[in-house]
Amino acid sequence: MNAVSTGAASGGTALERYYQFHSRIYDATRWSFLFGREEILRRLAVITKPNRILEVGCGTGRNLPGLRRRFPAAQLTGVDLSEQMLALAAQKLRDDKVTLLRRSYSAPVHTNGKGFDLVLFSYALSMFNPGWEQAIDAAWDDLEEGCLIAVVDFSHTSFTWFRRWMGVNHVRMEGHLWPYLAKKFTPLLDEQFNAYGGVWSYGIFIGRKQA
Ligand SMILES: C[S@@+](CC[C@H](N)C(=O)[O-])C[C@H]1O[C@@H](n2cnc3c(N)ncnc32)[C@H](O)[C@@H]1O
Repeated sequence: MNAVSTGAASGGTALERYYQFHSRIYDATRWSFLFGREEILRRLAVITKPNRILEVGCGTGRNLPGLRRRFPAAQLTGVDLSEQMLALAAQKLRDDKVTLLRRSYSAPVHTNGKGFDLVLFSYALSMFNPGWEQAIDAAWDDLEEGCLIAVVDFSHTSFTWFRRWMGVNHVRMEGHLWPYLAKKFTPLLDEQFNAYGGVWSYGIFIGRKQA
């Protein structure tokens, strides 16, 4: 495992402060409501075999072992804002083909001219407020031509109290991600699912970068 590479001083934003606490309970609690994370990995394994994978907002690295299992030879890069979340990610997967970067994702991360074959956002984009469009645009720039973006995230709720509660937790639930993704990328999969009998919906999108 490559060491976590850190840039600016940490802890500055409200989101970083949120995860200073939530990193401690994240893995123990999120399985009960961040649905679709196994499903998107399963679907990806059927349609692609990427060599270079970027997970944006990789958090505690919950998806990294699943990516490694399905794509054993791939170079994995995880980017996240939170030092505490990344520290947990660093414990999940110890191999020399993983790189973790602490930074805000508002611009592409690839530097050596070679982009990624797959960019995954798993319950990250709904927390990029502002900046979700910029992050999708950065993913476009980070991807090689013909390669895939994959997004699993909260979508919508009809319950005002729940939308407000999710707002308190830095999540925007207005179904805003999917039309922009479908406009920018050629959709291979664009589906919505209900959670807890329709209290909210979440989406899975897989799209191809095509000029
Ligand atoms: C709900 S967690 C998802 C973690 C992981 N992908 C998963 O599926 O369990 C969202 C993560 O996105 C990160 N994040 C939010 N905004 C970010 C930004 N602008 N740049 C990089 N990471 C960000 C947070 O620090 C947090 O770790």
